[in-house]
Amino acid sequence: MAEMAELRIDGKTYELPIIEGSEGERAIDISKLRNQSGVITLDPGYANTGSCMSSITFIDGDKGILRYRGIPIEEVADHSTFLEVAYLLVYGSLPTADNLANITESITLHTMLHEDFKRFFGALPKDAHPMAACSAAVGALSTFYPDCLDPRDPRQVEIAVHRLIAKLPTMAAYAYKHSIGQPMMYPRNELDYVGNFLYMLFGTPCDEYEVDPVIRNALDLLLILHADHEQNCSASTVRLVGSSMVNLFSAISSGIQALWGPSHGGANQEVIEMLASIRDQGISAREFVERAKAGDDTARLMGFGHRVYKNFDPRMKIIKGACREVLDKLGARTRLLEIAVELEEIALSDEYFVSRKLYPNVDFYSGVIYNAIGIPSNMFTAMFAIGRLPGWIAQWMELHGDSNFKIGRPRQIYTGPTETHYTPIKDR
Ligand code: CMC
Repeated sequence: MAEMAELRIDGKTYELPIIEGSEGERAIDISKLRNQSGVITLDPGYANTGSCMSSITFIDGDKGILRYRGIPIEEVADHSTFLEVAYLLVYGSLPTADNLANITESITLHTMLHEDFKRFFGALPKDAHPMAACSAAVGALSTFYPDCLDPRDPRQVEIAVHRLIAKLPTMAAYAYKHSIGQPMMYPRNELDYVGNFLYMLFGTPCDEYEVDPVIRNALDLLLILHADHEQNCSASTVRLVGSSMVNLFSAISSGIQALWGPSHGGANQEVIEMLASIRDQGISAREFVERAKAGDDTARLMGFGHRVYKNFDPRMKIIKGACREVLDKLGARTRLLEIAVELEEIALSDEYFVSRKLYPNVDFYSGVIYNAIGIPSNMFTAMFAIGRLPGWIAQWMELHGDSNFKIGRPRQIYTGPTETHYTPIKDR
């Protein structure tokens, strides 16, 4: 017998089941509340609302814990590769050597884009943001591949999944090449996933491009750390859009748009722009922190704060370590890293940030690494999208495998005028 919560409304008591997750997280199941009582719950920003039961990613924001399918992020970061993590998230367990070889082969087969995508990217303005270009291109996949659009056909879904993971890096690289006026590079399938992406980004038809293993490994790590983060804004977008039974490409295209926002994935670009502006204006880190405390939301300390983590973001700790290592290996210690460290130290001992439990998040140092390896700031969020893709796919697949599958349709409390009557235009 499930434990019950009691709710009293207008003198009547309603019993609501308490649901418990595998890590002891508890929720009051209100799914029948409106039918029983006529009352709904109100939770703007969904800070107290569980939208689903999920077995993909576990976060304990107070303790700074993140696990993919039960495995701590620190272990995944130490031992895994991005494609292995993609398999783990999408299929639910670590792959055997054969599984990994098969998925790697299948994804490698699909890296090329339909030739007409050259015209597609070519038609966009030169300064098109890569996130807008990638979202449009992923949406357009449904026009190129009508053979894999049925969310209820497992074989079609599998092909769509492999196509997406294979093609998003090619799309991001095409978007970048178009913006700088260089030829778009075809993938080279003898390279691994991350090496191939670096080649498409930085290679040209005129010169040999050697993938630097330090850069390759740093990028692989960053993709792993971004691979899923349970029901955040973009994952929830993918689920909500996906719940309309639209195809996977369309749902992921919406997720990319959601991730672009500066309060979400777009923060990594904003962080590096913030660090550069502190450097270029010659203001001190302390002065900037004072501005960020002024309560004016236009000057937040970007890369600080998180809806879930009220402690250190475990991904940030790993990235900070990697950041020093990569910059040392590349001999590229920058003023930007120094400013970031100064900002972090000041904020972590400042009452404003301490009392609000604002800690540096995943985006605080990732941009410093991207910057050091030569990735332009407007591509940072596209890097996040490539990393997050397996997580979105896993969320979409879990939604479609759920026996309680329903179209997402929140309710509201209406606050507009009560019934009023139409006034003819001459009388207004
Ligand atoms: N700088 C200064 N003040 C802040 C910041 C910040 N970065 N973040 C939150 N606050 C303050 C905010 O003004 C508010 O103060 P008060 O209580 O006096 O009104 C309090 O802290 C709580 O803020 P909130 O906006 O209610 O918190 P939230 O949980 O709704 O927002 C957040 C979370 C991530 C949107 C927010 O912390 C933020 O805007 N951070 C900067 C952007 C950023 O780094 N985003 C990346 C998030 S991690 C990557 C990802 O998962 O997408």
